[in-house]
Amino acid sequence: MQVTVEIYRQEAHSGASHFDTFVREVDPTDQILDVIMEIKDDVDGSLAFRKSCAHGVCGSDAMQINGMNRLACQTLIQDLKSDRIRIEPLKGMKVLRDLIVDMDPFFESLAKVKPYFIPKTTAPAAERKQTIEERARFDDTTKCIMCAACTTSCPSFWSNDNYLGPATLVKAHRFIFDSRDGGDRERLEVLDDRDGLWRCHSIYNCTDACPRDIEITKAIGDLKRYTVAQR
Ligand code: F3S
Repeated sequence: MQVTVEIYRQEAHSGASHFDTFVREVDPTDQILDVIMEIKDDVDGSLAFRKSCAHGVCGSDAMQINGMNRLACQTLIQDLKSDRIRIEPLKGMKVLRDLIVDMDPFFESLAKVKPYFIPKTTAPAAERKQTIEERARFDDTTKCIMCAACTTSCPSFWSNDNYLGPATLVKAHRFIFDSRDGGDRERLEVLDDRDGLWRCHSIYNCTDACPRDIEITKAIGDLKRYTVAQR
């Protein structure tokens, strides 16, 4: 089948932008990532985008595809139900070039909630045990691949980039509800703030955008209730 692909282009230095249009022969089961890689290989080697694993694990190829945040490697032509494909960088982030956005503020936000295990007790002789129920409490949020699709789909983030954003809240959830972790006081100091948890107005875009199907709005609700209970 034939598709028309419009891709956002932006100069690195001048910031000048436009869309380039490419007409391509594709298979309905091709990934969007296949299509843009072929455009780069066959037509325009200057096209800039991020990608790595191509299997929905590394999270590096999140972009807007027909107005929705998606991973290019997880999205097939046939998923779009259209022969017109518009590809743009993630919204609300500074564009460095073409489809590449500046991820530094995203990772700086994640770092604020200490996204690593802070042991509650000194190391035991064997492993730190956990029941199946304790593990289940944060199982969903362990699936985050830090692609930023959620944060950059959130209207609260678009209007205020001081907001920690749903990806940071998901990461906080993963550790706060881990029974072996003892860092929740430090994390709650960051979360219990007008630019933290309380900037979330349960808009749900983040949940719709997550390529790992994490129930993000529910996780944020868990954190809100926990934070109030700990005051
Ligand atoms: Fe934004 Fe998701 Fe909350 S879209 S407002 S973080 S529910």
